[in-house]
Amino acid sequence: MTDIKALFQSLSRQEKIGQLLQLAPFLFVRDLAVEVAGYVRHLNLSEQKIFQSGSVLGIGSAEEMIEVQTKYLAKSKQKIPLIFMADIIHGYKTIFPVPIGLASSFDPTLAFETARVSAVEAATSGIHVTFSPMADLVRDPRWGRIVESFGEDPQLIAKMAEAMVKGYQHDGIEKEGNLASCVKHFAAYGAAEAGRDYNAADVSRLSLHQFYLPGYKAALEAGARMVMTSFNTIDGVPATTNRYLLRDVLRTLWGFEGVTISDYDSLQQTIAHGHSEDQRQAALHGITAGLDIEMASTTYTSHLSELIDAGEVDERLVDEAVMRILELKRDLGLFENPFKGADPVKAKEIVLSKPHLDKALEAAREAIVLLKNDGVLPLSKTQTVAIVGPYADERNMIGPWHWHGRRDLHATLKEVFADQSVFVKKAFRFDEFNEAEIKQIRTADVVLFALGEHEWQSGEAHSRSDIRIPFDQHTLLSLLGANQKSVVVLFNGRPLDLSNIQSADAIVEAWFPGSMAAEAIHEILLGVTNPSGKLPITFPKTLGQVPLYYNHQKTGRPYLGKDDRNEYVSKYLDIDNDPAYCFGHGLSYSNFVYGDVHVSSETIRSNDVLTVAFDVTNASAVPGKETALLFLKDHHGRVVRPVLELKAFRKENYRAHETKTLSFQLSFQDFGYVLDDGSFVVEPGLFTVYAGPDVSRLKGKTIRLLP
Ligand code: BGC
Repeated sequence: MTDIKALFQSLSRQEKIGQLLQLAPFLFVRDLAVEVAGYVRHLNLSEQKIFQSGSVLGIGSAEEMIEVQTKYLAKSKQKIPLIFMADIIHGYKTIFPVPIGLASSFDPTLAFETARVSAVEAATSGIHVTFSPMADLVRDPRWGRIVESFGEDPQLIAKMAEAMVKGYQHDGIEKEGNLASCVKHFAAYGAAEAGRDYNAADVSRLSLHQFYLPGYKAALEAGARMVMTSFNTIDGVPATTNRYLLRDVLRTLWGFEGVTISDYDSLQQTIAHGHSEDQRQAALHGITAGLDIEMASTTYTSHLSELIDAGEVDERLVDEAVMRILELKRDLGLFENPFKGADPVKAKEIVLSKPHLDKALEAAREAIVLLKNDGVLPLSKTQTVAIVGPYADERNMIGPWHWHGRRDLHATLKEVFADQSVFVKKAFRFDEFNEAEIKQIRTADVVLFALGEHEWQSGEAHSRSDIRIPFDQHTLLSLLGANQKSVVVLFNGRPLDLSNIQSADAIVEAWFPGSMAAEAIHEILLGVTNPSGKLPITFPKTLGQVPLYYNHQKTGRPYLGKDDRNEYVSKYLDIDNDPAYCFGHGLSYSNFVYGDVHVSSETIRSNDVLTVAFDVTNASAVPGKETALLFLKDHHGRVVRPVLELKAFRKENYRAHETKTLSFQLSFQDFGYVLDDGSFVVEPGLFTVYAGPDVSRLKGKTIRLLP
């Protein structure tokens, strides 16, 4: 094994600083003097600096990786292999549901398995690190990156993030077929004000520690080797140069020893933020705050050396960052094999292979959420359907951030419904149909409306101020004849205001299901698969209610629901406080009935474990899956506690008419919470343990925690 200490000693200062730079692959293979001269000049780069850099952002294929690494090693003096990092977010070429869809499965084991497939596929192109999972907690549906998130609950985010990290890194990042995981975007990127991407996040320390940080922390506890900073400011300081986040929380409080990396160009952007005066100061702020790798900008290579000479930067800060990067390279096994993983032959064998597509189908089935069903679903094989809407005959149902995914490869709804459809048209509005077409549509038993947002209407920099289904697609519902049934299938990356399609008999939230979207939707609509997804995020009735999330703090003047006649309570004049669809909502073709909650004791003390048990019965003849949710309400605290907090969940298969007694163990620690300095407290007092299918239908039992 390479002695990285000796290697480190042999490096010049500029070579060390080079390790802190991440560049795009084309710089290593294109003609710098001619083709990319402008870009190179703009970044103040030189051939020497490029061939001293430490890592690469994004790579297309094994062939490209081999070419880049070969050229790099030929030209670089120290021949320290580059690490190849990339965004493998919800699959490499086999595409899984977008993360908000995967979270709807409430199935961390499935998340683990999808991450495994992603790792195995991506590794064949020589990728070593994935910029995933994104553990940003989200509350504002205007924010486009909800599609990349696991929703609004810290516990669910933590479980999914943990599973993804374990899936990517599996039995060790040194092994072929595994990737190192970089959790992002640290921190509170999802709290961008007004849901506008890149905007400031003004969250209190309490909220930061209680809500926003647990997801990242869980990813690190699962072993994630890297952390990416976020674009936003926190407490007026850009996250990328935020000493509190990068040193006090990450290193001191959590003991993280891995590598930190900026987001794309985000160190340079501290100048636009008005935090750094110029590049030199950006470099100073970055290295002192604890930022190791600078992605896509070049303040470190341009200025760190002079900052050290001027006595403004302690060279040990650079040394520590470099050592962390060399350790990662060592642990990835790159010194033994700089081309680790890159294997075009293997890529052909396994990428998009049958087992991988089967896993994509399984994940898509679990991600789909049945929001509404007035008895129309499941459809029968003998019913005829007309399919209209932008997704009626669309191959691309894989969603944003798929990067290597193929938009042209997968089946369309038209194809999977070929034997029962009488009419199909890709269209946005009612006025795109003529009389003859309307007549034909009205011959069908059921009209299937395949509506939603386009792939480019969510994701990074794709915030929306209007969360209704775009392009007046709701007008399509006027196509419906008097005796016809309607089913809306939705493709989108955020909670939408669905008020103008509520007349539909059924609404199916598909999100962007991935490579096997059409097959999974077909199975669900026909009842071959019983839907089991649940919402990991609240759907408001209208944007005016936002932010609307279940685990909000209590108010001194609570609103007690629609029949509350009190005027001076926390409510609106023009709408109630209830969501359209609450956290955990998701229907099934089975009928699940929850029994009362039983506890092993009505009081507990430290070191005690509380057993909570309740029955779940499938009161129907249809076998199905159900995720039971377990919440805790802490009645009083030195700081006001949320009205409810998810503590655990369990997804189980139920046979027809089967009852299962679910039992959960809550330790004394489960009753505690973090304060605004990150310290953990357990306070005696009253708690209610609740269980149920979603936050609107819970049964509870109150207990007392004794001092
Ligand atoms: C995104 C990150 C991503 C990075 C590298 C940025 O624009 O915010 O999520 O990992 O680019 O592609």
